[in-house]
Amino acid sequence: MANHKEILLLMLLALCIFFPLAFAVSEDLLFIKYHIHIINDLPSDLPPNVPSVLLLHCKSKDKDLGQRSMLQHEDYTWDSRINLFRTTLFFCQASWEGKQRNFDAFDANRDEHRCREYHNSCLWSVRDDGFYFSNDNSTWTNEYPW
Ligand SMILES: *[C@@H]1O[C@H](CO)[C@@H](O)[C@H](O)[C@H]1NC(C)=O
Repeated sequence: MANHKEILLLMLLALCIFFPLAFAVSEDLLFIKYHIHIINDLPSDLPPNVPSVLLLHCKSKDKDLGQRSMLQHEDYTWDSRINLFRTTLFFCQASWEGKQRNFDAFDANRDEHRCREYHNSCLWSVRDDGFYFSNDNSTWTNEYPW
């Protein structure tokens, strides 16, 4: 017969295994992959397929996505999950025709709910007057004017 100590130990062990699991399941956000899209909707005088001058450099605290040159109508996409502490943040530095702008492409606090509406996607459209956000791919709001 198992003594009390062993039972207690087993219960502790079960608690250690199931409590975080239950927590993670109730916080199903942790399993959701968000898709971040940045679309270059800038006007371009350049012929198609000539690299446009929209430069993007996006990174988070741990991940540097590198510098990226965007063609007109190109859709730059990457995925991110939200960490346990909801501090996940991807910020981008954009430049176009001598203008510079920083914007937060994905901010766990701001986006965890609003970006679940449409395929777990955060959509950005870069236009000549700013960075437009959409969470349904139909209504767009200029959240970061150039
Ligand atoms: C948004 O809508 C456009 C036009 O209907 C479509 O081409 C595009 O794939 C959609 N984007 C996403 C991320 O679903």
